[in-house]
Amino acid sequence: MLPAYLPNPVAALFGGGTPIDLGRNFTDGKRVFGDGKTFRGLIIGIFAGIGIGIAQIWASGTYGWENLPEHTYASITLLATGALLGDLGKSFIKRRLGKERGEKWPVADMYDLVAGALLMVLIFDPGWLFANMTLMIFILILILTPLLHRGINIIGHHFRVKEVPW
Ligand code: CTP
Ligand code: MG
Repeated sequence: MLPAYLPNPVAALFGGGTPIDLGRNFTDGKRVFGDGKTFRGLIIGIFAGIGIGIAQIWASGTYGWENLPEHTYASITLLATGALLGDLGKSFIKRRLGKERGEKWPVADMYDLVAGALLMVLIFDPGWLFANMTLMIFILILILTPLLHRGINIIGHHFRVKEVPW
């Protein structure tokens, strides 16, 4: 899941600049995505996820860790892209619900990247997903995601990368 987990913190670190919605509003008069979703965050985040995935592919080829999932260039790209598209989709719905940028939205803020990443592989590389996803791994993802999410965001807030600790 590293290619899915890395894009968000990297986007928070290196994002900024032109928002993806170019500052425009949706038909309801509220922002489409908001200022927290930028081109730079999206692109650098996706490249970071793919980068760590390439490192994983290289490491498993070199050290032959047989208990790790066999990543492919497709799987890492889909996980990384899906994670930030999930994040983007979440912000779209968040704005429709009238929630401001950075406002807390407990469950969605944590699982958006998991939903987006897994949905992308389900759609474009289902063979990989069914070969590697077991019930155990899925449950582990559901438990680990909120813990990692909260932990990293507290650290990010401490170092003033994020304005809020969630
Ligand atoms: N970020 C970015 N581009 C993205 C995603 C994130 O630049 N595609 C950066 C923004 O600086 C953002 C930060 O990462 O503020 C944290 O991301 P997130 O918590 O997802 O955004 P929020 O600011 O909380 O906005 P939202 O309410 O829409 O979730
Ligand atoms: Mg947020």
